[in-house]
Parts: sequence; C-alpha cells; structure tokens
Amino acid sequence: MTTSNEMLQISLPRIGDKAPSFEAVTTQGNIKFPEDYKGKWVILFSHPADFTPVCTSEFMTFAHMEEDFRKMNTALVGLSVDGLYSHIAWLRTIKDKIEFRGWKNVEVKFPLIEDITMNVAKMYGMIQPNESSTKAVRAVFFIDPKGIIRAMIYYPLSLGRNFEELKRVIRGLQTADKFSVAMPADWEPGEDVIVPPANSCGVAADRMAGKEEGLYCKDWFFCMKPLKKEELELV
Ligand code: BEZ
Repeated sequence: MTTSNEMLQISLPRIGDKAPSFEAVTTQGNIKFPEDYKGKWVILFSHPADFTPVCTSEFMTFAHMEEDFRKMNTALVGLSVDGLYSHIAWLRTIKDKIEFRGWKNVEVKFPLIEDITMNVAKMYGMIQPNESSTKAVRAVFFIDPKGIIRAMIYYPLSLGRNFEELKRVIRGLQTADKFSVAMPADWEPGEDVIVPPANSCGVAADRMAGKEEGLYCKDWFFCMKPLKKEELELV
C-alpha cells in the first residue's frame, strides 16, 4: 500500500545536512539556492498561502525586522506553493492596504519563491500531509554560511511564528560558533554562556578548584562564563 507520505515523496532534511540545492523563480528574480548565499546565514521559511491573515502578519513582521537580520549577516528567503503573480499581487496589497501593529506601507524586499510544483516544499519537508497536503506548513530553516542546516522549527498553519525567537536562534548559533560555547535555556545576548565540559580529569579538577580564569563551575559538568553583549560583535 502507498501511504500519502510516499505519494508526496516527503523528505525531511536534518540538522547537520547540506541544504538541498534548487533553482527557483522569486519576486526578486531567479535564485540558485543555497549557492547564491555562500558566506551568509539564511533563514529559508515557508508560509501556507498568499492572501491569508496569519501569513500577512508574519510577512509584515519579517519585513519590519529585515534590517536587524541584515546586521546579523542573515538573508531572508520565503516560499509558498503559490505562483509568482499571486506573490506580487499579495505583496502589493500588503504595501497598499494593510496596517498591522501600527506598521503601514510595508514593503517586502526579500525574495519570495514561487513553488507551484511543490518541488522545493517537498524537498524541505514543508508539506506535512496530516496538517495539509495542499499548503506548506510554517517551516523555518536556519542555514549557515557554508550551506549547512543548523536548526529548524516547524509551526502549524494556525500559529504565527515568534520572530524574536528566530533572531535568538541566529544569535545563539553565531555565538556558539565564534566562542566555542553553548547557550543555556532561554539565553539572550549578554547572559552567561555554558563552557563545554573539560575532556580531561585534570582540567575538570582545576576548573572546580577555580583555577581556570573567567569561568565558574557548579559541578564538573556545569561550568559557565560571562559573555558581555558588547563582546559578541557578531560576524
Ligand atoms: C493564515 O495565514 O491566516 C492561514 C493560512 C492557512 C490556513 C490557516 C490560516
């Protein structure tokens, strides 16, 4: 028996995988992904459909925050299984008519991929048939400057994303890479970070004895250190 997943040829890229390559038509011209974004972080995200209210609020929020992401060397790329002319008409309507949280005349300047064939959406596991077989879920892929998938978050159709969290994920991944540390629960820039456990007993003992400068340990496996916001100076 063929399941609906097999019929849709679902593949789910995983953390650590190379981002699947594709070429696509977007509202900002053609793109070759992820090759065109080499050297940049990218948030590749899908939305269920143009001309829908939750998606509209999300696009306005992303457009409002685009400069914040740009400062973090992060490009935004959207996708839905609608066609290019639908995308263009929807983005024009947003600019001309929609006000949300006091934002007006909002122009979406990042590319929005047309994917009427669902080729890209299927490749990235954005079509999740038990939620919808005709619309993409709200998927978010965080891709690093080498084209590796570093994190992903999926939301259902009914729940708009938390954009501060998307920013926090980028900040957290960039900080982890730059300082070889890990981020504790709910970490925000400026808060103490986790120092990975020592790989030798001697180092662990020195840390516990307070001999390693700049960090403090609660036990051999739980050491932290301050990392000031100003030190981050990311990317
Ligand atoms: C929305 O964006 O409002 C939406 C899209 C698809 C299904 C439900 C809500």
